[in-house]
Amino acid sequence: MIFKDNRFKYVVYSKKHIKIANKRLSALGNVTGKEILDIGTGVGYLPYMANKKGAFASALDMEIPLYKICTNDLNVPVIYHEIMPKIPLPFEENSFDIITSYQACFHKKYAWDDSDWIWFITNILSLLREKGVFVIQINKPGNLQIAAKKFKHKVSGTTWTFPK
Ligand SMILES: C[S@@+](CC[C@H](N)C(=O)[O-])C[C@H]1O[C@@H](n2cnc3c(N)ncnc32)[C@H](O)[C@@H]1O
Repeated sequence: MIFKDNRFKYVVYSKKHIKIANKRLSALGNVTGKEILDIGTGVGYLPYMANKKGAFASALDMEIPLYKICTNDLNVPVIYHEIMPKIPLPFEENSFDIITSYQACFHKKYAWDDSDWIWFITNILSLLREKGVFVIQINKPGNLQIAAKKFKHKVSGTTWTFPK
C-alpha cells in the first residue's frame, strides 16, 4: 500500500479501517476463490483485503476522484455507476458469490420507499449465484425494514443478510 500522493496517505494508512474490513470479511466465512462485489466501496478496503485472502473481489461506486485514486492504488477493479431507484446494476445474472454493501447510503438521495428496496434487492439477488448472499450494513434501515419482509433474511445489529 504505497501511496504516492501524501494528501491521501492518512486515508489509506488506516489500520483501523483494515481491521474493520477484516472483521467484515471474517463474518463472510472463507472467501478464497469467491467472486465478490462491494457496493459503495469508498477506498476499497474490503475488496482489497478480500483479494489478499484469495477472493476475486471488485467494487462498484460513483466516480469520485479521491476514491478513484485509492482503489487504483489498491488494485481494486471498480465499475463506476450511480445506484438509482429501479435502475438495474450493470452486471449479468449469476455473476457473484457474495455482494456486500457497508454504509453506502445510496438510498438517501432519492429517499427510497419500500418498492425501491424490493426492486433493488430483487435485482441484487438475480446477480448472485446459487447459494450466494447479499450482506448490507446500514445504520438507519428505514423502508428496508418493510421491503425485507418479502425476502428470506436475517438481521444482526445493523447488518442485514439476504440469501439467494
Ligand atoms: C460512507 S462511504 C462507505 C465506504 C465503505 N463501504 C466503508 O464502509 O468504508 C459511502 C460510499 O457509498 C458510495 N455511494 C453513495 N451513494 C451511491 C450511489 N448512489 N451509487 C453508488 N455508490 C454510492 C459513496 O461514493 C461512498 O463510497
